Amino acid sequence: MYLANNLTHLIESHKLRELVDEMSVLSLHLLTTHKELRLAHLALGFISSGYVWQEGKHAPAQTLPKALALPFWLVSRRLGLPAILTYADVILANWKLKDPTGDIDISNVDLIFSFPGGDTARGFFIVSLLVEMAASSGLKGALMVMHAMKTSDLIGIQRGLITVTQSLKKMKEVFQLMHNHVDPIEFFGTLRIFLFGWRDNPLLPNGLLYEGVSDEPVALSGSSAGQSSAVQCFDALLCIQHDDESGAFIAHMRDYMPPAHCQLIERLSALPSLRDFVFCCSSSDLCQAYNACVSALVELRSYHLNTVTKYVIVPSNRAHAMGCPLSGVATVKTGTAGSSLIIFLKSVRNATKKALILET
Ligand code: HEM
Ligand code: ALA
Repeated sequence: MYLANNLTHLIESHKLRELVDEMSVLSLHLLTTHKELRLAHLALGFISSGYVWQEGKHAPAQTLPKALALPFWLVSRRLGLPAILTYADVILANWKLKDPTGDIDISNVDLIFSFPGGDTARGFFIVSLLVEMAASSGLKGALMVMHAMKTSDLIGIQRGLITVTQSLKKMKEVFQLMHNHVDPIEFFGTLRIFLFGWRDNPLLPNGLLYEGVSDEPVALSGSSAGQSSAVQCFDALLCIQHDDESGAFIAHMRDYMPPAHCQLIERLSALPSLRDFVFCCSSSDLCQAYNACVSALVELRSYHLNTVTKYVIVPSNRAHAMGCPLSGVATVKTGTAGSSLIIFLKSVRNATKKALILET
């Protein structure tokens, strides 16, 4: 906890690796509750990413020492999570209220742990959390639809869809806070490296050796909102059909979610198709409610694409133009979770558009 609580300073002063190398192997025997295990995963995930990327892109660590690797592996096994920092750690489980009686808003939320990048790191993590919170009413809407489908209750389905649409619109509105709280240069140049993993990453092409766990390097993807279960639930509900490559990446991201989140997506995917139901039931109101929901998801994805251009593409082009070493490496062309970035995001947005039902 000392290392995790002082991570930013220890990374910036290049002392973290030395301190981790001196650490004795941590034991798990005092961790009993789910919350304790999640906090341990969060702390060990932050320290591991700090350890690997302390010296930047130029010199990633190739080995995670046993003192860190073994407890991280064991905690992860108990939680059903991979032994790497995930979105469920860095966003969903990395906050506390300053005033516990107050609201969850940007001025009353503090991070538990952070990376270099100052206010930008704080802003990026907290705005993402607020977007995720705005999705929570949509998840309730998805469940309303799910239950109403069982009895072909058209009004219930329509109400559920309207709730999801409102939530998607709110997500986009909250997303806009990113611009006030996240600086593109600081995000791209300082924070982003710590979110990368060791799979589909040319900086660590063989993965990372988890000492005391395996003799072979392990390949694990970095943290990304692609691991958000909320958006995947909406895709499942609305029956969005992604192409093979994007679909495979999206499915892979489920391995990085808490098992219960993944199960909810699977439950929603296993339902009889809502889109087919709407298509066949010849209710114009229902069709409009479905289309409004799909359109709100398209809008969110288009807005997301513009944001990615501002925070990744523009700063990377600038670094390239300035002759920055390593600006040409593939980490600028791939997302932190290893996708082919713009190609992937456009294909996902276009697949969403294709779900719209053309009324005759
Ligand atoms: C995927 C960047 C904020 C939701 C991605 C990917 C990138 C990216 C590059 C491709 C996957 C990968 O990492 O390899 C960014 C940037 C952000 C940002 C630069 C802010 C500065 C957010 C927020 C959300 C979000 C706040 C909120 C839910 C998603 C989703 C995907 C994704 C759902 C998977 C693709 C999809 O289903 O549309 N993001 N992201 N992102 N991101 Fe973001
Ligand atoms: N997934 C985001 C990126 O690639 C954080 O920049």
